Amino acid sequence: MTKKRVGVLISGRGSNLGALIDACRSPDYPAKIVLVISNVPSAQGLLRAEAGLVPTRTINHKDFLSREAFDEALDATLNEAGVELLCNAGFMRLHTESFVQRWWNRHLNIHPSLLPAFKGMHTHERVLEEGVKITGCTVHFVRPEMDSGPIVAQAAVPVLPNDTRDDLAARVLEAEHQLYPHALELVASGEVRVEGERVVGLTQVREQKPLISPPRNEVF
Ligand code: GAR
Repeated sequence: MTKKRVGVLISGRGSNLGALIDACRSPDYPAKIVLVISNVPSAQGLLRAEAGLVPTRTINHKDFLSREAFDEALDATLNEAGVELLCNAGFMRLHTESFVQRWWNRHLNIHPSLLPAFKGMHTHERVLEEGVKITGCTVHFVRPEMDSGPIVAQAAVPVLPNDTRDDLAARVLEAEHQLYPHALELVASGEVRVEGERVVGLTQVREQKPLISPPRNEVF
């Protein structure tokens, strides 16, 4: 099997990167990570990549005079490494429109909400404020507008009555670690594709029970 050459962009902890590295270990997985780039020199994710024997580069946005120049450097480095598919995994910089155009339909992002709800920062705080009962995470193709683009896959998790921001973040993160490898597999294998700004292609989908939150047997 020819595996798709994947680049991963990170800015911090890199736990989603870790989940992707683990998934790529399987001989049947249709992707391999050929390069991890961090814009933050101290990002913990760089250590995670090194432990997984994945090549890393730091391209510090602070070394560039403009967003354009930073994105040019990213693009050049990714092309040099022969990257075919790009995954943002906790990468906290907005891309220029021209970068997004160059990686059109080859560029994924994970966001910790059920998009298009709760785009942007402080997702879990806002979910709690709104009293939402189900939240989750989304993997989508990147478009110029932040946290928007054709949705590849989503995972739903319940919001529990006494959840703190950290409880909720941890529950969503656990779902992210399952979702991102799954979504990347769908894209890298060619099982799904973008058509008219929607992701299509799956023909056999198993029906699942609805997630009801709070559960029906719960008494208030
Ligand atoms: C993840 O929760 C990811 O969804 C979020 O940052 C975290 C990174 O964690 N991304 C965004 O909010 C992008 N809009 P990680 O570094 O441990 O993977």
